[in-house]
Amino acid sequence: MKKIIVTGGLGFIGSNLAKLLIKKNYFVINVDKVNYASNFYNTRDFFNKKNYKFIKLDINNRSKLRKVLNLHKPIAVFNLAAETHVDRSIDGPAEFIKSNIVGVFNLLEEFREFTKKNKKSKLIHISTDEVYGDVLKGRSKENDPYKPSSPYAASKASSDHLVYSYVRTFKLNAMITNCSNNYGPHQHPEKLIPKLIYNIIKNKPLPLYGKGKNSREWIFVDDHCEALFKVFKNGAKGQFYNIGSNINRSNLDIAKLLINIAKKKTKLGKKVKIKFVKDRPGHDVRYALDSKKIFKRLKWKSKINLKKGLENTFNWYFKNMKYYTTLKKKDITRRLGVVK
Ligand SMILES: NC(=O)c1ccc[n+]([C@@H]2O[C@H](COP(=O)([O-])OP(=O)(O)OC[C@H]3O[C@@H](n4cnc5c(N)ncnc54)[C@H](O)[C@@H]3O)[C@@H](O)[C@H]2O)c1
Repeated sequence: MKKIIVTGGLGFIGSNLAKLLIKKNYFVINVDKVNYASNFYNTRDFFNKKNYKFIKLDINNRSKLRKVLNLHKPIAVFNLAAETHVDRSIDGPAEFIKSNIVGVFNLLEEFREFTKKNKKSKLIHISTDEVYGDVLKGRSKENDPYKPSSPYAASKASSDHLVYSYVRTFKLNAMITNCSNNYGPHQHPEKLIPKLIYNIIKNKPLPLYGKGKNSREWIFVDDHCEALFKVFKNGAKGQFYNIGSNINRSNLDIAKLLINIAKKKTKLGKKVKIKFVKDRPGHDVRYALDSKKIFKRLKWKSKINLKKGLENTFNWYFKNMKYYTTLKKKDITRRLGVVK
């Protein structure tokens, strides 16, 4: 059975990707350092499958990483290990530099050594649309300049540059993907959609930054994972691929949609009302991707429409309230990322 390493596989996208790869009959090795966003609940559907293995490992641990690569000889490494919350990067950027930049450097060095003998193995580095910064009009193309606004986005931009430099200089077999905002099961409720769902279910106000006008391109996590699989199968070395749904909505629209979905499922409490709160410092107004390249070259297109995807997501959290109990309450409710 062919082996694939997924780094960050206890997190939101990594666990959904692991599930997809296991279903496609690959042997998945999940390498994760286990931080606050990791959750073993995310892997409970497949943790006892024969083609799954978890290894607790920080990608900065070069000697252990080397051992894992040489022992398992993966045909691909999907790198999703990262610190991912913009607000946390405002409160404490150091962890973002450590995992997202230095961690990627260490992974690249070990992958370079490993592929001297295992020439066919590929690295798929997963990144974000946030590297392009604010896009008030139009949609970002792969060749557009990077202009990240937050320490998180800057750390991801740096990692993308590092990966590309290894392709150019060392002929590393790597590709870079930039995806828009994901939503779906397994996402930590520090992020907008699972936080709103939690507050709806718990009869709490729904906090939105500023006036809720910030616009994001929303993609269901399964669509993203299918795109990553296409990139792994047919993507070309050294290429960047934008991955988006072409669906932009303001945070206010998302909150209203979720309220409507919830109403059909349950009786809403009196406190479930939109509440505008102090904006995030440096908050980008809009991100939007042009994803024609992956459509034309790899024949990938997102399939799940927003309403359906949000219904699936709401239903998952509603059925899996236990998921929230695995987290520290303060990690769900505390306001982060306010510069004093
Ligand atoms: N969530 C989104 O909307 C989105 C959109 C585009 C791109 N991305 C990118 O996708 C990737 C995954 O995002 P997510 O939302 O699933 O994140 P997440 O925060 O839910 O999970 C990240 C996982 O990475 C692990 N990790 C962090 N640093 C590590 C290290 N040094 N070594 C090993 N493991 C480490 C964490 O323990 C965690 O389990 C990230 O690179 C992120 O930038 C996310």
